[in-house]
Amino acid sequence: MADKSDKSAKHGLARGLTNYGDAGFSLYLRRSFAKSMGYSGEMLARPVVGIADSKSGFNNCHRHFPELIEAVKRGALAAGALPIEFPTVSLGEVFLSPTSMMFRNLMSIDVEEMMRAQPMDAVVLLGGCDKTVPAQLMGAASADVPAVQLLAGPMMPTSFRGERLGACTDCRRFWALHRAGKVDSSEIETIEGNLATTAGTCAVMGTASTMASISEALGMALPGSAAIPAVHSDRLRAAEASGRRAAGLAKDPIRPSQIITERSVENALRVLLAVGGSTNAIVHLTAIAGRAGVKIDLKKLNALSDSTPVLVDLKPTGQHYMSDLYAAGGVGAVLRELKPLLNLDCMTVAGETLGERLKHEEGAWVDRSVVKAFKEPLSSQGGLVALFGSLAPNGAILKRSAADPSLFEREGRAVVFASLDDLAARIDDSNLDVKAEDFLVLQNAGPKSGYAMPEAGYLPIPAKLARAGVKDMVRISDARMSGTAYGTIVLHVSPEAAIGGPLALVKNGDRIRLSVRERKMDLLVSESELGKRKAAWREPSARPSRGYAKLYMDHVLQAEHGCDFDFLRKA
Ligand code: FES
Repeated sequence: MADKSDKSAKHGLARGLTNYGDAGFSLYLRRSFAKSMGYSGEMLARPVVGIADSKSGFNNCHRHFPELIEAVKRGALAAGALPIEFPTVSLGEVFLSPTSMMFRNLMSIDVEEMMRAQPMDAVVLLGGCDKTVPAQLMGAASADVPAVQLLAGPMMPTSFRGERLGACTDCRRFWALHRAGKVDSSEIETIEGNLATTAGTCAVMGTASTMASISEALGMALPGSAAIPAVHSDRLRAAEASGRRAAGLAKDPIRPSQIITERSVENALRVLLAVGGSTNAIVHLTAIAGRAGVKIDLKKLNALSDSTPVLVDLKPTGQHYMSDLYAAGGVGAVLRELKPLLNLDCMTVAGETLGERLKHEEGAWVDRSVVKAFKEPLSSQGGLVALFGSLAPNGAILKRSAADPSLFEREGRAVVFASLDDLAARIDDSNLDVKAEDFLVLQNAGPKSGYAMPEAGYLPIPAKLARAGVKDMVRISDARMSGTAYGTIVLHVSPEAAIGGPLALVKNGDRIRLSVRERKMDLLVSESELGKRKAAWREPSARPSRGYAKLYMDHVLQAEHGCDFDFLRKA
Protein backbone atom coordinates (compact mmCIF):
# COMPACT_ATOMS: atom_id res chain seq x y z
CA MET A 1 0.00 0.00 0.00
CA ALA A 2 1.34 3.41 -0.87
CA ASP A 3 2.33 5.79 1.88
CA LYS A 4 -0.41 8.44 1.89
CA SER A 5 1.91 11.04 3.42
CA ASP A 6 4.52 10.69 0.67
CA LYS A 7 2.91 12.54 -2.23
CA SER A 8 6.17 12.77 -4.18
CA ALA A 9 6.70 8.99 -4.48
CA LYS A 10 6.92 7.94 -8.13
CA HIS A 11 3.87 5.74 -8.13
CA GLY A 12 0.20 6.17 -8.81
CA LEU A 13 -0.81 9.68 -9.71
CA ALA A 14 2.70 10.96 -8.95
CA ARG A 15 4.14 9.15 -11.98
CA GLY A 16 5.07 11.14 -15.07
CA LEU A 17 3.96 14.58 -13.94
CA THR A 18 2.79 17.22 -16.37
CA ASN A 19 5.67 19.63 -16.73
CA TYR A 20 5.00 23.09 -15.30
CA GLY A 21 8.55 23.49 -14.04
CA ASP A 22 7.42 22.83 -10.44
CA ALA A 23 6.84 19.17 -9.58
CA GLY A 24 5.02 19.97 -6.33
CA PHE A 25 2.59 22.23 -8.16
CA SER A 26 2.06 19.61 -10.89
CA LEU A 27 1.06 16.94 -8.39
CA TYR A 28 -1.12 19.34 -6.41
CA LEU A 29 -2.90 20.40 -9.61
CA ARG A 30 -3.32 16.81 -10.80
CA ARG A 31 -4.77 15.68 -7.48
CA SER A 32 -7.02 18.71 -7.41
CA PHE A 33 -8.43 17.93 -10.85
CA ALA A 34 -8.69 14.23 -10.01
CA LYS A 35 -10.74 15.20 -6.96
CA SER A 36 -13.22 16.89 -9.28
CA MET A 37 -14.15 13.32 -10.28
CA GLY A 38 -15.10 12.61 -6.67
CA TYR A 39 -12.13 10.49 -5.62
CA SER A 40 -11.12 10.57 -1.97
CA GLY A 41 -7.57 11.29 -0.89
CA GLU A 42 -7.24 7.66 0.20
CA MET A 43 -8.11 6.46 -3.32
CA LEU A 44 -5.74 8.93 -4.97
CA ALA A 45 -2.86 7.65 -2.84
CA ARG A 46 -3.28 4.11 -4.20
CA PRO A 47 -1.22 2.58 -6.99
CA VAL A 48 -3.04 3.08 -10.29
CA VAL A 49 -4.18 0.25 -12.57
CA GLY A 50 -4.95 1.62 -16.01
CA ILE A 51 -7.61 -0.16 -18.03
CA ALA A 52 -7.07 0.22 -21.78
CA ASP A 53 -10.57 0.07 -23.23
CA SER A 54 -10.94 -0.67 -26.94
CA LYS A 55 -14.73 -0.64 -26.99
CA SER A 56 -16.31 1.08 -29.97
CA GLY A 57 -19.67 1.21 -31.69
CA PHE A 58 -17.73 0.01 -34.73
CA ASN A 59 -16.54 -3.12 -32.95
CA ASN A 60 -19.20 -5.77 -32.37
CA CYS A 61 -16.64 -8.15 -30.88
CA HIS A 62 -16.04 -5.79 -27.91
CA ARG A 63 -19.65 -4.92 -27.10
CA HIS A 64 -19.47 -6.57 -23.67
CA PHE A 65 -16.45 -4.57 -22.50
CA PRO A 66 -18.41 -2.31 -20.09
CA GLU A 67 -19.31 -5.38 -18.03
CA LEU A 68 -15.73 -6.71 -18.19
CA ILE A 69 -14.37 -3.33 -17.10
CA GLU A 70 -16.62 -3.34 -14.03
CA ALA A 71 -15.17 -6.73 -13.11
CA VAL A 72 -11.57 -5.54 -13.68
CA LYS A 73 -12.25 -2.55 -11.42
CA ARG A 74 -13.69 -4.82 -8.73
CA GLY A 75 -10.53 -6.91 -8.75
CA ALA A 76 -8.16 -3.92 -8.71
CA LEU A 77 -10.06 -2.14 -5.94
CA ALA A 78 -10.22 -5.26 -3.78
CA ALA A 79 -6.44 -5.60 -4.11
CA GLY A 80 -5.78 -2.04 -2.99
CA ALA A 81 -5.28 -0.23 -6.31
CA LEU A 82 -7.19 2.55 -8.00
CA PRO A 83 -8.49 1.40 -11.41
CA ILE A 84 -8.80 4.10 -14.08
CA GLU A 85 -10.04 3.29 -17.55
CA PHE A 86 -8.97 5.12 -20.67
CA PRO A 87 -10.04 4.78 -24.30
CA THR A 88 -7.77 3.78 -27.12
CA VAL A 89 -8.18 3.24 -30.83
CA SER A 90 -10.43 0.25 -31.53
CA LEU A 91 -10.17 -1.90 -34.64
CA GLY A 92 -13.38 -3.69 -35.60
CA GLU A 93 -12.24 -6.06 -38.31
CA VAL A 94 -15.07 -5.68 -40.80
CA PHE A 95 -15.68 -1.97 -40.30
CA LEU A 96 -12.34 -0.63 -41.51
CA SER A 97 -11.22 0.36 -44.97
CA PRO A 98 -9.03 -0.56 -46.72
CA THR A 99 -8.25 -3.07 -43.95
CA SER A 100 -7.70 -3.13 -40.19
CA MET A 101 -4.09 -4.12 -40.86
CA MET A 102 -3.32 -0.58 -41.93
CA PHE A 103 -4.25 0.67 -38.46
CA ARG A 104 -2.71 -1.99 -36.20
CA ASN A 105 0.49 0.04 -35.86
CA LEU A 106 -1.51 3.22 -35.23
CA MET A 107 -3.31 1.49 -32.35
CA SER A 108 0.00 0.17 -31.04
CA ILE A 109 1.40 3.71 -30.96
CA ASP A 110 -1.74 4.93 -29.15
CA VAL A 111 -1.49 2.15 -26.54
CA GLU A 112 2.25 2.62 -26.03
CA GLU A 113 2.12 6.38 -25.69
CA MET A 114 -0.97 6.50 -23.46
CA MET A 115 0.50 3.83 -21.18
CA ARG A 116 3.65 5.87 -20.89
CA ALA A 117 2.16 9.37 -20.77
CA GLN A 118 -0.58 8.72 -18.21
CA PRO A 119 0.12 7.87 -14.59
CA MET A 120 -0.38 4.14 -14.20
CA ASP A 121 1.70 1.52 -12.41
CA ALA A 122 0.22 -1.39 -14.34
CA VAL A 123 -2.43 -1.85 -16.98
CA VAL A 124 -5.10 -4.31 -18.03
CA LEU A 125 -5.40 -4.39 -21.81
CA LEU A 126 -8.89 -5.24 -23.05
CA GLY A 127 -8.76 -6.49 -26.60
CA GLY A 128 -9.95 -9.31 -28.78
CA CYS A 129 -10.83 -8.50 -32.38
CA ASP A 130 -8.02 -9.53 -34.72
CA LYS A 131 -5.60 -6.58 -34.69
CA THR A 132 -6.39 -5.24 -31.23
CA VAL A 133 -4.46 -7.83 -29.21
CA PRO A 134 -1.32 -7.58 -31.40
CA ALA A 135 -1.50 -3.78 -31.20
CA GLN A 136 -1.87 -3.87 -27.42
CA LEU A 137 0.97 -6.35 -26.92
CA MET A 138 3.21 -4.36 -29.29
CA GLY A 139 2.43 -1.18 -27.37
CA ALA A 140 2.93 -2.84 -23.99
CA ALA A 141 6.25 -4.36 -25.07
CA SER A 142 7.48 -0.93 -26.19
CA ALA A 143 6.20 0.97 -23.13
CA ASP A 144 7.41 -1.85 -20.86
CA VAL A 145 4.82 -1.03 -18.21
CA PRO A 146 3.53 -4.14 -16.37
CA ALA A 147 0.49 -5.35 -18.31
CA VAL A 148 -2.12 -8.09 -18.20
CA GLN A 149 -3.82 -8.98 -21.47
CA LEU A 150 -7.53 -9.59 -20.96
CA LEU A 151 -9.17 -11.15 -23.99
CA ALA A 152 -12.71 -10.51 -25.19
CA GLY A 153 -13.29 -14.26 -25.49
CA PRO A 154 -14.94 -16.02 -28.40
CA MET A 155 -18.56 -15.78 -29.56
CA MET A 156 -20.84 -18.74 -29.02
CA PRO A 157 -21.92 -20.72 -32.09
CA THR A 158 -25.63 -20.58 -32.96
CA SER A 159 -27.94 -23.56 -33.43
CA PHE A 160 -29.54 -23.16 -36.81
CA ARG A 161 -31.71 -25.74 -38.58
CA GLY A 162 -29.97 -28.70 -37.07
CA GLU A 163 -26.39 -27.48 -37.33
CA ARG A 164 -24.15 -25.07 -35.46
CA LEU A 165 -23.00 -21.88 -37.17
CA GLY A 166 -20.19 -19.63 -36.06
CA ALA A 167 -18.30 -16.69 -37.47
CA CYS A 168 -16.70 -16.93 -39.73
CA THR A 169 -15.66 -20.18 -41.37
CA ASP A 170 -19.37 -20.84 -41.87
CA CYS A 171 -19.75 -17.32 -43.36
CA ARG A 172 -17.31 -18.33 -46.08
CA ARG A 173 -18.81 -21.80 -46.57
CA PHE A 174 -22.28 -20.39 -47.20
CA TRP A 175 -20.97 -17.58 -49.38
CA ALA A 176 -19.13 -20.15 -51.55
CA LEU A 177 -22.41 -22.11 -51.85
CA HIS A 178 -24.21 -18.88 -52.79
CA ARG A 179 -21.59 -18.14 -55.46
CA ALA A 180 -21.95 -21.66 -56.79
CA GLY A 181 -25.74 -21.09 -57.10
CA LYS A 182 -26.64 -23.58 -54.35
CA VAL A 183 -27.93 -21.05 -51.78
CA ASP A 184 -30.34 -18.40 -53.04
CA SER A 185 -30.53 -14.70 -52.04
CA SER A 186 -33.30 -15.08 -49.48
CA GLU A 187 -31.58 -18.02 -47.80
CA ILE A 188 -28.24 -16.17 -47.60
CA GLU A 189 -30.05 -13.25 -45.95
CA THR A 190 -31.46 -15.60 -43.30
CA ILE A 191 -28.02 -17.09 -42.72
CA GLU A 192 -26.53 -13.60 -42.43
CA GLY A 193 -28.54 -13.11 -39.23
CA ASN A 194 -27.35 -16.36 -37.66
CA LEU A 195 -23.58 -16.30 -38.09
CA ALA A 196 -22.50 -13.87 -35.37
CA THR A 197 -25.09 -13.74 -32.62
CA THR A 198 -23.28 -12.96 -29.36
CA ALA A 199 -20.59 -10.61 -28.10
CA GLY A 200 -17.04 -11.84 -28.53
CA THR A 201 -14.55 -12.66 -31.23
CA CYS A 202 -14.96 -15.04 -34.17
CA ALA A 203 -15.96 -18.47 -32.90
CA VAL A 204 -13.30 -20.55 -34.64
CA MET A 205 -9.50 -20.74 -34.52
CA GLY A 206 -9.23 -17.57 -36.60
CA THR A 207 -6.82 -14.75 -35.96
CA ALA A 208 -8.50 -13.49 -32.78
CA SER A 209 -8.58 -16.94 -31.16
CA THR A 210 -5.03 -17.63 -32.29
CA MET A 211 -3.80 -14.36 -30.81
CA ALA A 212 -5.70 -15.11 -27.60
CA SER A 213 -3.99 -18.52 -27.39
CA ILE A 214 -0.62 -16.89 -28.14
CA SER A 215 -1.19 -14.28 -25.40
CA GLU A 216 -1.62 -17.05 -22.86
CA ALA A 217 1.30 -19.08 -24.23
CA LEU A 218 3.57 -16.02 -24.16
CA GLY A 219 2.61 -15.48 -20.53
CA MET A 220 0.87 -12.12 -21.02
CA ALA A 221 -2.69 -13.34 -20.27
CA LEU A 222 -3.64 -15.14 -17.07
CA PRO A 223 -3.50 -18.95 -17.13
CA GLY A 224 -6.72 -20.49 -18.39
CA SER A 225 -8.19 -17.22 -19.62
CA ALA A 226 -7.71 -17.33 -23.41
CA ALA A 227 -10.57 -19.57 -24.50
CA ILE A 228 -13.35 -18.60 -22.06
CA PRO A 229 -16.39 -17.60 -24.14
CA ALA A 230 -17.22 -13.90 -24.07
CA VAL A 231 -20.63 -14.50 -22.49
CA HIS A 232 -19.56 -17.08 -19.88
CA SER A 233 -19.47 -15.91 -16.27
CA ASP A 234 -15.92 -17.31 -16.07
CA ARG A 235 -14.93 -14.48 -18.43
CA LEU A 236 -16.07 -11.98 -15.78
CA ARG A 237 -14.12 -13.87 -13.13
CA ALA A 238 -11.06 -13.75 -15.40
CA ALA A 239 -11.58 -9.99 -15.70
CA GLU A 240 -11.77 -9.64 -11.91
CA ALA A 241 -8.64 -11.77 -11.55
CA SER A 242 -6.85 -9.66 -14.19
CA GLY A 243 -7.65 -6.47 -12.25
CA ARG A 244 -6.47 -8.08 -9.03
CA ARG A 245 -3.28 -9.34 -10.67
CA ALA A 246 -2.55 -5.93 -12.24
CA ALA A 247 -2.79 -4.43 -8.74
CA GLY A 248 -0.20 -6.97 -7.65
CA LEU A 249 2.04 -6.01 -10.57
CA ALA A 250 1.65 -2.34 -9.70
CA LYS A 251 3.27 -3.03 -6.35
CA ASP A 252 5.72 -5.74 -7.43
CA PRO A 253 6.32 -5.26 -11.15
CA ILE A 254 7.01 -7.93 -13.73
CA ARG A 255 7.53 -6.10 -17.00
CA PRO A 256 6.71 -7.26 -20.55
CA SER A 257 10.47 -7.33 -21.24
CA GLN A 258 10.77 -10.06 -18.58
CA ILE A 259 7.95 -12.07 -20.19
CA ILE A 260 8.32 -11.57 -23.96
CA THR A 261 11.69 -13.21 -24.62
CA GLU A 262 13.18 -15.42 -27.31
CA ARG A 263 12.19 -18.48 -25.27
CA SER A 264 8.58 -17.42 -24.64
CA VAL A 265 8.20 -16.42 -28.29
CA GLU A 266 9.31 -19.93 -29.22
CA ASN A 267 6.61 -21.31 -26.89
CA ALA A 268 4.06 -19.06 -28.59
CA LEU A 269 5.16 -20.32 -32.01
CA ARG A 270 4.74 -23.92 -30.81
CA VAL A 271 1.20 -23.16 -29.66
CA LEU A 272 0.42 -21.32 -32.90
CA LEU A 273 1.44 -24.45 -34.80
CA ALA A 274 -0.28 -26.90 -32.47
CA VAL A 275 -3.64 -25.14 -32.60
CA GLY A 276 -3.52 -24.95 -36.42
CA GLY A 277 -3.62 -21.18 -35.97
CA SER A 278 -4.06 -18.31 -38.35
CA THR A 279 -1.41 -17.28 -40.87
CA ASN A 280 -1.93 -13.69 -39.67
CA ALA A 281 -0.58 -14.65 -36.29
CA ILE A 282 2.91 -15.22 -37.66
CA VAL A 283 2.95 -11.59 -38.88
CA HIS A 284 1.59 -10.31 -35.55
CA LEU A 285 3.86 -12.44 -33.36
CA THR A 286 6.84 -11.29 -35.44
CA ALA A 287 5.81 -7.67 -34.80
CA ILE A 288 5.28 -8.23 -31.05
CA ALA A 289 8.61 -10.04 -30.75
CA GLY A 290 10.30 -7.29 -32.75
CA ARG A 291 9.21 -4.74 -30.14
CA ALA A 292 11.06 -6.83 -27.56
CA GLY A 293 14.15 -7.16 -29.74
CA VAL A 294 13.41 -10.80 -30.64
CA LYS A 295 13.68 -11.84 -34.29
CA ILE A 296 11.54 -14.62 -35.76
CA ASP A 297 13.30 -16.34 -38.63
CA LEU A 298 10.93 -18.09 -41.07
CA LYS A 299 13.49 -20.90 -41.42
CA LYS A 300 13.16 -21.42 -37.67
CA LEU A 301 9.37 -21.48 -38.10
CA ASN A 302 9.85 -24.40 -40.52
CA ALA A 303 12.08 -26.23 -38.04
CA LEU A 304 9.50 -25.77 -35.28
CA SER A 305 6.67 -26.72 -37.63
CA ASP A 306 8.40 -29.99 -38.51
CA SER A 307 8.57 -30.95 -34.84
CA THR A 308 5.26 -29.60 -33.49
CA PRO A 309 2.12 -31.73 -33.87
CA VAL A 310 -1.32 -30.27 -34.61
CA LEU A 311 -3.40 -31.13 -31.56
CA VAL A 312 -6.54 -29.01 -31.70
CA ASP A 313 -9.53 -30.00 -33.81
CA LEU A 314 -11.16 -26.61 -34.43
CA LYS A 315 -12.59 -24.96 -37.51
CA PRO A 316 -11.51 -23.74 -40.01
CA THR A 317 -9.43 -26.92 -40.40
CA GLY A 318 -11.35 -29.20 -38.02
CA GLN A 319 -14.73 -29.74 -36.44
CA HIS A 320 -15.19 -27.69 -33.32
CA TYR A 321 -15.57 -24.12 -32.10
CA MET A 322 -13.53 -22.12 -29.61
CA SER A 323 -16.16 -22.60 -26.88
CA ASP A 324 -15.59 -26.35 -27.29
CA LEU A 325 -11.87 -25.80 -26.69
CA TYR A 326 -12.72 -24.06 -23.44
CA ALA A 327 -14.96 -26.93 -22.35
CA ALA A 328 -12.24 -29.38 -23.38
CA GLY A 329 -9.61 -27.84 -21.10
CA GLY A 330 -8.59 -24.66 -22.89
CA VAL A 331 -5.10 -23.60 -23.90
CA GLY A 332 -3.76 -25.23 -20.72
CA ALA A 333 -4.66 -28.63 -22.14
CA VAL A 334 -2.62 -27.83 -25.26
CA LEU A 335 0.33 -26.56 -23.21
CA ARG A 336 0.32 -29.73 -21.11
CA GLU A 337 0.56 -31.91 -24.23
CA LEU A 338 3.35 -29.73 -25.64
CA LYS A 339 5.25 -29.68 -22.34
CA PRO A 340 8.27 -31.70 -23.58
CA LEU A 341 8.78 -29.10 -26.33
CA LEU A 342 8.28 -25.95 -24.26
CA ASN A 343 10.70 -23.68 -22.45
CA LEU A 344 9.27 -24.11 -18.95
CA ASP A 345 11.44 -21.49 -17.26
CA CYS A 346 9.60 -18.59 -18.93
CA MET A 347 8.03 -16.12 -16.49
CA THR A 348 4.34 -15.31 -16.84
CA VAL A 349 2.25 -12.36 -15.82
CA ALA A 350 0.79 -14.54 -13.05
CA GLY A 351 4.14 -14.36 -11.25
CA GLU A 352 5.00 -18.02 -11.78
CA THR A 353 6.91 -19.75 -14.55
CA LEU A 354 5.16 -21.75 -17.23
CA GLY A 355 6.59 -24.90 -15.68
CA GLU A 356 5.15 -24.00 -12.27
CA ARG A 357 1.78 -23.33 -13.86
CA LEU A 358 1.72 -26.65 -15.67
CA LYS A 359 2.69 -28.46 -12.48
CA HIS A 360 -0.50 -27.21 -10.76
CA GLU A 361 -2.52 -28.41 -13.72
CA GLU A 362 -1.18 -31.96 -13.93
CA GLY A 363 -4.01 -34.45 -14.44
CA ALA A 364 -6.58 -31.74 -15.27
CA TRP A 365 -9.61 -32.60 -17.39
CA VAL A 366 -9.22 -32.80 -21.14
CA ASP A 367 -11.70 -33.79 -23.84
CA ARG A 368 -9.71 -35.80 -26.38
CA SER A 369 -12.25 -35.20 -29.14
CA VAL A 370 -11.04 -31.57 -29.19
CA VAL A 371 -7.46 -31.62 -27.84
CA LYS A 372 -5.54 -34.66 -29.04
CA ALA A 373 -2.78 -36.41 -27.12
CA PHE A 374 0.81 -35.60 -28.13
CA LYS A 375 1.29 -39.22 -29.22
CA GLU A 376 -1.96 -39.31 -31.25
CA PRO A 377 -2.04 -35.91 -32.98
CA LEU A 378 -4.24 -34.78 -35.83
CA SER A 379 -1.03 -34.30 -37.76
CA SER A 380 2.55 -34.93 -36.70
CA GLN A 381 3.64 -31.61 -38.21
CA GLY A 382 2.58 -28.03 -37.54
CA GLY A 383 -0.10 -26.20 -39.49
CA LEU A 384 2.06 -23.48 -41.06
CA VAL A 385 5.04 -23.68 -43.36
CA ALA A 386 7.27 -21.02 -44.92
CA LEU A 387 8.17 -21.32 -48.60
CA PHE A 388 11.17 -19.78 -50.31
CA GLY A 389 12.42 -19.79 -53.90
CA SER A 390 12.71 -17.47 -56.86
CA LEU A 391 9.11 -16.27 -56.53
CA ALA A 392 9.47 -15.51 -52.81
CA PRO A 393 13.17 -14.93 -51.98
CA ASN A 394 12.33 -13.58 -48.52
CA GLY A 395 9.56 -16.08 -47.84
CA ALA A 396 5.86 -16.81 -48.15
CA ILE A 397 3.45 -18.67 -45.87
CA LEU A 398 1.16 -21.62 -46.54
CA LYS A 399 -1.28 -22.99 -43.99
CA ARG A 400 -0.80 -26.61 -44.96
CA SER A 401 -3.32 -27.82 -42.38
CA ALA A 402 -6.02 -25.86 -44.24
CA ALA A 403 -4.87 -26.89 -47.72
CA ASP A 404 -5.43 -29.80 -50.08
CA PRO A 405 -2.25 -31.98 -49.98
CA SER A 406 -2.96 -33.24 -53.50
CA LEU A 407 -2.01 -29.73 -54.72
CA PHE A 408 1.30 -29.55 -52.82
CA GLU A 409 3.73 -30.94 -55.42
CA ARG A 410 2.92 -29.53 -58.82
CA GLU A 411 3.67 -27.13 -61.60
CA GLY A 412 1.00 -24.85 -62.97
CA ARG A 413 0.22 -22.11 -65.44
CA ALA A 414 -0.13 -18.63 -63.92
CA VAL A 415 -3.42 -16.77 -64.33
CA VAL A 416 -2.49 -13.29 -63.17
CA PHE A 417 -4.55 -10.48 -61.67
CA ALA A 418 -2.63 -7.20 -61.45
CA SER A 419 -4.62 -5.79 -58.53
CA LEU A 420 -7.66 -6.31 -56.36
CA ASP A 421 -9.71 -4.20 -58.75
CA ASP A 422 -8.56 -6.35 -61.66
CA LEU A 423 -9.48 -9.47 -59.66
CA ALA A 424 -12.96 -8.15 -58.89
CA ALA A 425 -13.51 -7.18 -62.52
CA ARG A 426 -12.46 -10.45 -64.15
CA ILE A 427 -12.60 -13.42 -61.74
CA ASP A 428 -16.19 -14.33 -62.68
CA ASP A 429 -15.92 -13.44 -66.36
CA SER A 430 -17.13 -16.42 -68.32
CA ASN A 431 -14.40 -15.69 -70.91
CA LEU A 432 -11.59 -15.89 -68.34
CA ASP A 433 -8.99 -18.36 -69.61
CA VAL A 434 -8.66 -20.51 -66.50
CA LYS A 435 -8.64 -24.21 -65.65
CA ALA A 436 -8.77 -26.00 -62.31
CA GLU A 437 -5.09 -26.97 -62.53
CA ASP A 438 -3.91 -23.36 -63.07
CA PHE A 439 -2.35 -21.22 -60.33
CA LEU A 440 -4.25 -18.00 -59.59
CA VAL A 441 -1.78 -15.16 -58.92
CA LEU A 442 -2.76 -11.85 -57.33
CA GLN A 443 -0.25 -8.98 -57.49
CA ASN A 444 -0.12 -5.68 -55.62
CA ALA A 445 -2.00 -6.59 -52.46
CA GLY A 446 0.97 -6.43 -50.06
CA PRO A 447 1.86 -3.97 -47.28
CA LYS A 448 2.88 -1.14 -49.63
CA SER A 449 0.31 -1.78 -52.36
CA GLY A 450 -2.05 0.99 -51.35
CA TYR A 451 -4.47 -1.67 -50.08
CA ALA A 452 -2.33 -2.29 -46.94
CA MET A 453 -2.16 -6.07 -47.25
CA PRO A 454 -5.84 -6.94 -46.94
CA GLU A 455 -7.23 -10.42 -46.31
CA ALA A 456 -7.69 -10.91 -50.03
CA GLY A 457 -5.36 -13.88 -50.46
CA TYR A 458 -8.36 -16.19 -50.35
CA LEU A 459 -9.04 -15.55 -54.03
CA PRO A 460 -12.48 -16.82 -54.96
CA ILE A 461 -12.65 -19.84 -57.21
CA PRO A 462 -13.69 -18.42 -60.62
CA ALA A 463 -17.48 -18.71 -60.84
CA LYS A 464 -17.45 -21.02 -63.84
CA LEU A 465 -15.10 -23.44 -62.06
CA ALA A 466 -17.05 -23.16 -58.77
CA ARG A 467 -20.23 -24.09 -60.62
CA ALA A 468 -18.38 -27.07 -62.09
CA GLY A 469 -17.58 -28.27 -58.56
CA VAL A 470 -13.98 -27.02 -58.15
CA LYS A 471 -13.43 -26.35 -54.44
CA ASP A 472 -9.72 -25.58 -54.21
CA MET A 473 -6.93 -24.29 -56.42
CA VAL A 474 -3.39 -23.06 -55.80
CA ARG A 475 -3.64 -19.34 -55.10
CA ILE A 476 -0.59 -17.10 -54.64
CA SER A 477 -0.38 -13.48 -53.47
CA ASP A 478 1.38 -10.96 -51.28
CA ALA A 479 -1.90 -10.43 -49.38
CA ARG A 480 -3.02 -12.01 -46.11
CA MET A 481 -5.91 -14.40 -45.51
CA SER A 482 -8.53 -14.40 -42.80
CA GLY A 483 -7.75 -16.92 -40.10
CA THR A 484 -11.21 -18.34 -40.67
CA ALA A 485 -10.49 -19.24 -44.31
CA TYR A 486 -9.08 -22.40 -45.87
CA GLY A 487 -7.59 -23.63 -49.14
CA THR A 488 -4.23 -24.12 -50.86
CA ILE A 489 -3.30 -20.50 -50.49
CA VAL A 490 0.23 -19.10 -50.53
CA LEU A 491 0.35 -15.75 -48.76
CA HIS A 492 2.68 -12.94 -47.64
CA VAL A 493 4.96 -13.35 -50.69
CA SER A 494 8.03 -11.21 -50.06
CA PRO A 495 9.35 -8.95 -51.43
CA GLU A 496 5.87 -7.85 -52.46
CA ALA A 497 4.88 -6.83 -55.98
CA ALA A 498 4.40 -3.14 -55.14
CA ILE A 499 8.13 -2.74 -54.46
CA GLY A 500 9.11 -4.71 -57.54
CA GLY A 501 9.51 -8.17 -56.03
CA PRO A 502 9.51 -11.17 -58.38
CA LEU A 503 5.74 -11.49 -57.90
CA ALA A 504 5.39 -8.23 -59.86
CA LEU A 505 7.09 -9.83 -62.86
CA VAL A 506 4.78 -12.83 -63.28
CA LYS A 507 2.78 -12.83 -66.53
CA ASN A 508 -0.17 -14.88 -67.71
CA GLY A 509 0.99 -18.24 -68.95
CA ASP A 510 4.25 -18.35 -66.96
CA ARG A 511 4.94 -21.65 -65.24
CA ILE A 512 5.27 -21.80 -61.46
CA ARG A 513 6.55 -24.78 -59.52
CA LEU A 514 5.29 -25.41 -56.00
CA SER A 515 6.84 -27.98 -53.70
CA VAL A 516 5.68 -27.94 -50.10
CA ARG A 517 7.97 -30.89 -49.40
CA GLU A 518 11.00 -28.84 -50.51
CA ARG A 519 9.57 -25.58 -49.06
CA LYS A 520 9.98 -24.04 -52.52
CA MET A 521 8.03 -21.88 -54.91
CA ASP A 522 9.84 -20.99 -58.13
CA LEU A 523 8.93 -18.86 -61.11
CA LEU A 524 10.12 -20.85 -64.13
CA VAL A 525 11.16 -17.89 -66.27
CA SER A 526 14.72 -17.23 -67.45
CA GLU A 527 16.90 -14.66 -65.69
CA SER A 528 17.30 -12.65 -68.89
CA GLU A 529 13.54 -12.42 -69.45
CA LEU A 530 13.00 -11.42 -65.81
CA GLY A 531 15.69 -8.75 -66.21
CA LYS A 532 13.79 -7.25 -69.16
CA ARG A 533 10.53 -7.29 -67.23
CA LYS A 534 12.19 -5.70 -64.21
CA ALA A 535 13.60 -2.89 -66.36
CA ALA A 536 10.10 -2.15 -67.66
CA TRP A 537 8.43 -2.35 -64.22
CA ARG A 538 6.86 0.81 -62.72
CA GLU A 539 5.58 1.39 -59.18
CA PRO A 540 1.81 0.75 -59.37
CA SER A 541 0.24 3.25 -57.02
CA ALA A 542 0.75 6.91 -56.26
CA ARG A 543 2.21 7.45 -52.80
CA PRO A 544 0.04 9.25 -50.24
CA SER A 545 1.25 12.79 -49.63
CA ARG A 546 0.02 13.40 -46.08
CA GLY A 547 -1.33 12.07 -42.83
CA TYR A 548 -1.21 8.59 -41.39
CA ALA A 549 -1.37 7.03 -44.87
CA LYS A 550 1.97 8.70 -45.66
CA LEU A 551 3.50 7.63 -42.36
CA TYR A 552 2.30 4.09 -43.04
CA MET A 553 3.60 3.98 -46.60
CA ASP A 554 6.96 5.51 -45.73
CA HIS A 555 7.70 3.16 -42.86
CA VAL A 556 5.83 -0.15 -43.10
CA LEU A 557 8.10 -3.18 -43.36
CA GLN A 558 7.58 -6.41 -45.28
CA ALA A 559 5.71 -9.41 -43.85
CA GLU A 560 8.82 -11.21 -42.61
CA HIS A 561 9.37 -8.21 -40.30
CA GLY A 562 5.79 -8.30 -39.05
CA CYS A 563 4.66 -5.27 -41.11
CA ASP A 564 5.73 -3.07 -38.21
CA PHE A 565 7.04 0.43 -38.81
CA ASP A 566 10.82 0.54 -39.07
CA PHE A 567 11.12 3.17 -36.30
CA LEU A 568 9.00 1.22 -33.79
CA ARG A 569 11.05 -1.97 -33.59
CA LYS A 570 13.53 -2.33 -30.77
CA ALA A 571 16.99 -1.56 -32.08
FE1 FES B 1 -13.74 -9.43 -34.59
FE2 FES B 1 -13.58 -11.73 -36.19
S1 FES B 1 -14.57 -9.80 -36.60
S2 FES B 1 -12.70 -11.32 -34.27
